[in-house]
Amino acid sequence: SPTGAEAGKFAAARRAVDLIGDGMTVGLGTGSTAAWMVRALAARVKSEGMTLTCVPTSSRTGALATRLGLNVVTLEDVETLDLTIDGADEFDPAFRLIKGGGAAHLQEKIVAAASKRLVVITDPSKDVAHLGAFPLPVEVTPFGHTATLRLIQQVVNQADVDGREITMRQHEAVPVITDEGNVVYDLHLGRIGDPEALMRDLTCLPGVVETGLFLGLCDTVIIGHPDGRAETRV
Ligand code: A5P
Repeated sequence: SPTGAEAGKFAAARRAVDLIGDGMTVGLGTGSTAAWMVRALAARVKSEGMTLTCVPTSSRTGALATRLGLNVVTLEDVETLDLTIDGADEFDPAFRLIKGGGAAHLQEKIVAAASKRLVVITDPSKDVAHLGAFPLPVEVTPFGHTATLRLIQQVVNQADVDGREITMRQHEAVPVITDEGNVVYDLHLGRIGDPEALMRDLTCLPGVVETGLFLGLCDTVIIGHPDGRAETRV
């Protein structure tokens, strides 16, 4: 069994999997917490013989779910999802989220928006009074991305935030490319005073595909503690 923060993630994942019933269509999130949920779900499906339809939010999650024997389809194969269970990088008291630490926020947001419910599974470290300490991911088309960066910088310069630095997401000095073939800029804002205004101003820029701000999508947060307790907030 996992220990420390992983034990908390595991506890949250297990509690979330209890929300799933036979015959449901379920969105599978991305990240280390969501991976625990995929494992717990696969174990339940096996032991209880449930029939589920699963829509992954990344190639990574799709590969894991397929490997564990879950029935994986694409979003185009289903009309609506009963529930999506996903991790988050930050959540505030209004259940506004920052996501995209794993560069999967575009698919995650499309799947969440197609779902009746988004349940977030986390550990206590993601619980914040104000969003923004975690750098806000913005997915941008590779075409003209430096021009788009200049527009993003203008928005940031005028926004109600504490920090204004922007970095391109790289892994071992190579730009990270998302599942949808785009690049990611991380906005180091410190504190986001008005998430709704910032999302609106960023999303209308040409070249910006999606931001990691998830507003009005999440209705339940399950926080897993290192001692194995899972706390549900609605
Ligand atoms: C993926 O792009 C993110 O939105 C993840 O949901 C987020 O990074 C949470 O990941 P962990 O569960 O690994 O912290």
